[in-house]
Amino acid sequence: MELSRRTVIAGAAAAGVAATAVGGTAHATGGRKPVKELFGKLADGTKVYRWSLENGGTRMKVLSYGGVVQSLELPDRRGRYANVSLGFDDLDDYVASSPYMGALIGRYGNRIDKGRFTLDGKAYQLSVNDGENTLHGGAQGFDKRVWDVEPFAGGSDVGLVLHYTSVDGEMGYPGTLKAKVTYTLTRDGDWRIDYEATTDKATVVNLTSHVYWNLAGEGSGTIEDHELSIAASRYTPTDAGLIPTGELAKTAGTPFDFRRAKPIGRDIRAAHPQLITAKGFDHNWVLDKGITDRPEHIATLRDPSSGRTLKIATDQPGLQFYSGNFLDGTLTGTGGRTYRQGDALCLETQHFPDSPNQPSFPSTVLRPGQTYRTTTVHSFGV
Ligand code: GLA
Repeated sequence: MELSRRTVIAGAAAAGVAATAVGGTAHATGGRKPVKELFGKLADGTKVYRWSLENGGTRMKVLSYGGVVQSLELPDRRGRYANVSLGFDDLDDYVASSPYMGALIGRYGNRIDKGRFTLDGKAYQLSVNDGENTLHGGAQGFDKRVWDVEPFAGGSDVGLVLHYTSVDGEMGYPGTLKAKVTYTLTRDGDWRIDYEATTDKATVVNLTSHVYWNLAGEGSGTIEDHELSIAASRYTPTDAGLIPTGELAKTAGTPFDFRRAKPIGRDIRAAHPQLITAKGFDHNWVLDKGITDRPEHIATLRDPSSGRTLKIATDQPGLQFYSGNFLDGTLTGTGGRTYRQGDALCLETQHFPDSPNQPSFPSTVLRPGQTYRTTTVHSFGV
């Protein structure tokens, strides 16, 4: 976390805790083991746990259900904490009606046209759950699975290792996919996600995280004042079902140009056909850096009111920026307030949507013997 020493100590005083417990590089708590508690039970009796982690000034609560980030607390410029990630108090809300709040997404983040694809000459039909398409892995994706969770606290990092094995044919995907996701809170308060997967048959995979951010605090209102930059000169326009047409369109001269930071609300009501179709921003940006060996900085989100910032680095080629268009006031969050359209945004690092049907997009095929590996780092500051 990019905090001045003064901010850290002021923050500690405001929060009524010892300065050493808050963090910042000079005060890293490093090594405090995540704490586990029972969160709830699924209808079949399966227990769901909640883990609390803290490091470098960042506090986080994670569920074994869906690997959900239930809350993520950050200090503002005066050291006052707020939960900047939308979520629910009860497991029932996650099970009944969650639009992927805070969850891990798999096996395939984003949409696959009509839930169909062909691999090595064989046709597959996936679970269809978004009109005629497959979204975020199908009806029972990784966001609705209970993960095995192991805590760790070593050196200056704390974190959780989450495992889930998806059986051959689950939701229609070929191969037994063994997924391992590591959430790390670093001594600087960064949240790093390392994804890994292996398979025993050729398959497709595209894992991501679906946190809904509101840097002013969940339930505090619109994110249209947040300033966003995305290092992308192209994006993938879609058809009415939000499936990419295959074109890599230029962002220059369009509302999709976020190469220089601008408020999200500035162009969101422009009469651009792509904004009308998606009811706002809900597109994949083609990152200029392409696929990289290491995570590189690709986007910055800043809330002018609190001063909180989020920087995202990834090795992935794409970023889905979704401006919370389908939030409609029917869900009540952890703070007791309802979530309305534009009350949060998602920044999902990923391969492009529908890649299994788009030969010109970077491949999402994983074969036996290969290991899928990707990393995204969220760095917070004020
Ligand atoms: C993703 C999609 C959106 C929407 C949300 C969940 O971000 O791109 O279209 O489906 O998930 O509501």
